[in-house]
Amino acid sequence: MGDKKHTLTLTDNATGKAIELPVRYGTEGPPAVDIGPLYRDFGYFTYDPGFVSTGSCRSAITFIDGDQGVLLYRGYPIEQLAEKSTFLEVAYLLLYGELPSQDQLDGFTNVIVRHTMINESLKSFYQGFYHDAHPMATMVGVVGSLSAFYHDSTDIRNPQHREIAAHRLIAKMPTIAGASYKHSIGEPFVYPKNSLSYAGNFLRMMFAVPSEEYVVDPVAEKALDLIFILHADHEQNASTSTVRLAGSSGANPFACIASGIAALWGPAHGGANEAVLRMLAQIGDVKHIPQYLAKAKDKNDPFRLMGFGHRVYKNYDPRARIIRKMCHEVLEKVGDQHDPLFELALRLEELALKDDYFIERKLYPNVDFYSGLIYKALGIPTNMFTVMFAIARTVGWVAQWMEMIGEPDQKIGRPRQIYDGPAARDYLPIRRRKSAPHGAGTADLNGEARNTD
Ligand code: ACO
Repeated sequence: MGDKKHTLTLTDNATGKAIELPVRYGTEGPPAVDIGPLYRDFGYFTYDPGFVSTGSCRSAITFIDGDQGVLLYRGYPIEQLAEKSTFLEVAYLLLYGELPSQDQLDGFTNVIVRHTMINESLKSFYQGFYHDAHPMATMVGVVGSLSAFYHDSTDIRNPQHREIAAHRLIAKMPTIAGASYKHSIGEPFVYPKNSLSYAGNFLRMMFAVPSEEYVVDPVAEKALDLIFILHADHEQNASTSTVRLAGSSGANPFACIASGIAALWGPAHGGANEAVLRMLAQIGDVKHIPQYLAKAKDKNDPFRLMGFGHRVYKNYDPRARIIRKMCHEVLEKVGDQHDPLFELALRLEELALKDDYFIERKLYPNVDFYSGLIYKALGIPTNMFTVMFAIARTVGWVAQWMEMIGEPDQKIGRPRQIYDGPAARDYLPIRRRKSAPHGAGTADLNGEARNTD
C-alpha cells in the first residue's frame, strides 16, 4: 500500500503532541491520509458526516475524477465502453478486471442466460404484495428472499459460491424486475427467453403478453443496453457503500444486494430519475422555469432541481453527456421528437447552466436528468425507473462485494461517532420521573392508536 514515502503530521495545539500519518497513493486520484493509527496512537477519532473527505476502501474497479468529469471502468473511459461495448461485456470487465476474449464472452453470456429463471415458488412470494405495490418495494423483498432459495451459494468464504451468487444475481435481476412490474399491473409473468440479449430479454419480460408475439425493437434494445452500461458501477456511492457495509459483517450476497436496492431507492440517489420526471411534470411549461429555479435557490424552500448536482462531479457528468445524445436519437426513432417534457428539460438545463447559483456551486446535470426521458419514450412507467438503475448497478454491487470479500485482511465496517446525548447518570425509579414533553408515548396520535393493517 502506498509506494511513496510521504507523511502528514498532525499536531494537537492543546498538548503539543504530534503524530505522523502515512499518505497512500492510488494509480489515479488525490492521495489519502491513512488515519488507521489515529485513535490507537493519538486518542482521536475523525468526524466527517456524509463521508465528504473519507475513503472507505482501496478498489481497482472504478475511478472518477469529479473535477474533470472522467469515469473509468477498470481503466477504460466510459465514452469508449458506451460506444464500442455491450452490457454483458462490461459486466465481465467489472467482475473479472479485463475485457473478455470472444470465447470468454461467449462462455459468460451462456452462464448468465442459463441462470435467468427464478424458482417457481418465488412466484407465489409476489402474491403476498399488495396489488399496486411499488416495484422497488417488491424488489427489496424478493431479492432478499433469494438467500432462502440458493443455500448452495451463500458460503461467502468459498470463491466458487461467490461467483455463482454473482452470476445468479446478474442473471435474475431483469426477471425479478419484470415480474415486479407485471405484478403491479396485474398481468401474467413472462418467462425469460435465452436467445435474446440481456436488454432485449428484459424488454420482453416487461412488455410481452402470452396472447401475442413480441418483437424486440432494436432501437429500444440498444438504448437500454447503453443505459445499463452507464449505470453499471460508480465507485463508493451510497448504495455500493451499503452493500459493502452489509457484506463486511459476513451477510450473504443476496441480503447485501437487497440492502443496496433499499439505499438506491432514495430521491437523493437512484430515485432521482423518477423525481426528475415528476419535477418536469410539475413545472409543466417552459414559462414556469424561472419560478422553479427561484424555488431551487431559495434556502427556505426544500425544492431542489432533481437530476442536478453530484457529490463527486463538479463538472458535467460524463454519463449525462452520452445519455443526452442518446435521448435525441431515441426520441427521434421511437418516441415523440416533440415531447414537451424533453423540450422543457433542454430549456431547464440551458437556463440552470447560465445561472450564477448553479455556476458557483458547480451544479451540472447528472446521468438521471436524461435517463427518465429515455425510459418514458420506451414506454417504461415512472415507478420502474429506479428498478432499471438497480438492474444495471447489480453488476457494480456484486463486483465491489466480491472484491471486498476476497481481501485477505477484510474487516467488519464499523464507523465511530461523536456522542451528543446525556452524560452518564443514575437510573430513576418510575415514581420519581416526570413526563418528558416529547417523550415516547406522548405523541398526539390523532386517533391512530388502534390496530390497523
Ligand atoms: N438544486 C438546488 N441546489 C442544490 C442542488 C440541486 N439539485 N444540489 C445541490 N445544491 C446546493 C445545496 O443547496 C448547497 O448549497 P449551499 O452551499 O448554498 O448550502 C450546495 O449546492 C452543495 O450541495 P450539497 O447538498 O452539500 O451537496 P451534496 O454533495 O451533499 O449532494 C446531491 C449531492 C445529493 C446529489 C445533491 O446535489 C442533490 O440533492 N441533487 C438532486 C438529487 C439528484 O439528482 N440525485 C442524483 C445523484 S446522481 C445518482 O445517484 C445517480
